[in-house]
Amino acid sequence: MSIIYFAIAITLHIFSVVIWIGGMFFAHFALRPVATSLLDPPLRLPLMSQVLTRFFPWVWASVVLLWATGFWMNTDRIYIYIMMAIAAIMTIIFVYIFFLPFPNLKKALTNKNFPEAGKHLARIRHLIHLNLWLGVLTIIIGTAGRFI
Ligand code: HEM
Repeated sequence: MSIIYFAIAITLHIFSVVIWIGGMFFAHFALRPVATSLLDPPLRLPLMSQVLTRFFPWVWASVVLLWATGFWMNTDRIYIYIMMAIAAIMTIIFVYIFFLPFPNLKKALTNKNFPEAGKHLARIRHLIHLNLWLGVLTIIIGTAGRFI
């Protein structure tokens, strides 16, 4: 792969990392604690649901770009395979969130069933928290792995 293509691929790769991992970091450490302390469930749950509705298309784009650029760069190193393995787990977790607890959350909110919605949002929160730390681990492996 020529150096210019590699430069383009790694830039898109890092854009995707920033959007996905940075978005989860912001949601978990900034948005959620404030929403929880200021808003009651009938306001907080739709807020979080609509925030996720706007965030998830960006995550889809990031996931597709991460895999596409990752294979495009095609570096045959052991740390890259570890990166791919963790990214695969993260991708499965995201796809699960998107197709199960997330539609359930929206359905519960349409029915104004806030206790049920709260349960689904709690599930999403735990999984996003897990994906956040897997993402941090992947960043460490992606940047520091080459020096080992
Ligand atoms: C959440 C998932 C991922 C994260 C957080 C991540 C993160 C990173 C980071 C931080 C770098 C280092 C960039 C640099 O320092 O220049 C990198 C490089 C790279 N990543 Fe990923 N990555 C992810 C997914 C993937 C996937 C799915 C693949 C393969 C299909 C992949 C393949 C690569 C390759 C080939 C490089 C270039 C390594 C080199 O310098 O030769 N990554 N990634």
